[in-house]
Amino acid sequence: MKILAINGSRRTKGNTETLIQALLAPCNAAGVETESIFIGDYNIGACTGCEGCAKSWQCVIKDDYAKVINKIDAADGIILASPTYWYSVTSDMKRLIDRSYSLVQFPVSRKNWIGKYQNSGKACITVGICEQFEMAAMGNTLSLLTDFSKDIGFEVVDSIAGLGFFAAGSINNDSDILSRAEAAGQSLLKHLKQ
Ligand SMILES: Cc1cc2nc3c(=O)[nH]c(=O)nc-3n(C[C@H](O)[C@H](O)[C@H](O)COP(=O)(O)O)c2cc1C
Repeated sequence: MKILAINGSRRTKGNTETLIQALLAPCNAAGVETESIFIGDYNIGACTGCEGCAKSWQCVIKDDYAKVINKIDAADGIILASPTYWYSVTSDMKRLIDRSYSLVQFPVSRKNWIGKYQNSGKACITVGICEQFEMAAMGNTLSLLTDFSKDIGFEVVDSIAGLGFFAAGSINNDSDILSRAEAAGQSLLKHLKQ
């Protein structure tokens, strides 16, 4: 079993990474192989809307996108996490999502699509973190990550909204949300073992 966490932040000691590590802690303790990556470390350009992926499940742009997809292909569990930047995910995370247009196909009509990972057994947890204390300030950060995950065929086991965290690592002072993250990590493990 393998669990991959994809972090939309570039802050290596930031709140998103801290929460990811809390999620992964029970997985590491259970001896499961885990990997956490910062998507900003990968050179992933913008989707050009060329439709080159329309029938192949593969993006035709040659950059680091395929490296990340290979990691997702090899993972059983995925954690998709991003801080809120202006009511949405970071631009690094958004480019990954846009390029993943290659992970859906429209075989019959544009109204219905199938995701590459449908029936694959891949499960995921989505995480959004923002500074303000109301869900409205998070905009679509969490719903975008969750809708995207469902569209490409992941089963979303849990979603966590971290509200009220600004300074890098300030989430370390909130034992409630760290416990909530550990519990979500346990749920992911349990789901994958079923
Ligand atoms: C460019 C930028 C835009 C931001 N936009 C929002 C926002 O719309 N709403 C909000 O509540 N926080 C916003 N924040 C605050 C971050 O979401 C918050 O500091 C978060 O904890 C950062 O996570 P990290 O430490 O993992 O990078 C923004 C921060 C930056 C740098």
